[in-house]
Amino acid sequence: MSLSLDKNDITARINKISSIEELEKLRIEYIGKKGFLSNEMQSLSLLSIEEKKIKGQELNLFKSFFEQTINNKKSDLEISALNEKLENEQIDATLPPRDFNTGKIHPISQTIYKIIDIFSSMGFSVESGPDIETDFNNFTALNIPSHHPAREMQDTFYIEDKINNEDKVLRTHTSPVQVRTMLETKPPIRIIVPGRTYRSDSDATHTPMFHQVEGLLIDNSSSMAHLKGCLIDFLKEFFEINDLQYRFRPSYFPFTEPSAEMDIAFTKNNDVWKVGAGDQWLEILGCGMVHPKVLENCKIDSKTFQGFAFGMGIERLSMLKYGITDARSFFESDFRWLNHYGFDPLDLTTSSGI
Ligand code: PHE
Repeated sequence: MSLSLDKNDITARINKISSIEELEKLRIEYIGKKGFLSNEMQSLSLLSIEEKKIKGQELNLFKSFFEQTINNKKSDLEISALNEKLENEQIDATLPPRDFNTGKIHPISQTIYKIIDIFSSMGFSVESGPDIETDFNNFTALNIPSHHPAREMQDTFYIEDKINNEDKVLRTHTSPVQVRTMLETKPPIRIIVPGRTYRSDSDATHTPMFHQVEGLLIDNSSSMAHLKGCLIDFLKEFFEINDLQYRFRPSYFPFTEPSAEMDIAFTKNNDVWKVGAGDQWLEILGCGMVHPKVLENCKIDSKTFQGFAFGMGIERLSMLKYGITDARSFFESDFRWLNHYGFDPLDLTTSSGI
């Protein structure tokens, strides 16, 4: 088609166009760098000054008219494309909702969040350490020398390769993080350590990998009375039972002196556990005043400083709180189990919202 400077011609041509691509093609044809109008402008140089003035003005007026018309057409086309889309993409509000799965928070994680929440309100901060530990941190520094019978209490997984001639173990408890923290920081210390631990053990209440939370408080005045108060407050808050029945029993751990175990009362009716009251006792944690030898092994002056430590199994706490009967089920990754026992990510069950 020949190109002209006639306004009616160009309007008719633009009106016939039905797509944005076609419109763009026409725009380039007319006002693109090598387009019709640029050529016309260039050819002005061949004209006399008078002719140049008249023709130049004509070209400029045509250019603005062309741009205006093509822009109007462009927005018309865009609006009708949108209307067409809205027509064809009608929402059918009668359709059933699409089933989408949200993940669940694992009960172990939920229990850890709850424990952190309670202890952080008492001023404890959270520490962590590696799963593979040195024999020194896991045993020796904690006053469990080699061939000490207490090593047999914890069926240890040893790692084959030694590093710097020292045995490596999968940590049998979270207590080595006490050692790491005491070697790295000066008292006062007030930490809890939730984490994975390993022992060669497997039945309905034991799995080879399990979780513990350790607590350590070191200052120059804390006593067994503070230890008891702290643990009683924790368990009441954790189980949300104000008149929780408990007892402390003397016990033995190489790293604490004196040592104790804490039991809580429970009843069991047709396999349903009720925690907090009853005529049976369930061991829930180990604790004691940190042994002076442990303080000295960790370069802390035992004449100036003292403190307490405690350790408990997270699976056991979780089983009792949420009514889970087999510890192995925690790690089977059964979706039906997770859907039943897991927690909604948006269910902010802790005051800190974690
Ligand atoms: N580490 C001990 C265990 O695993 C628990 C414990 C920790 C006991 C701290 C006393 C003090 O059995």
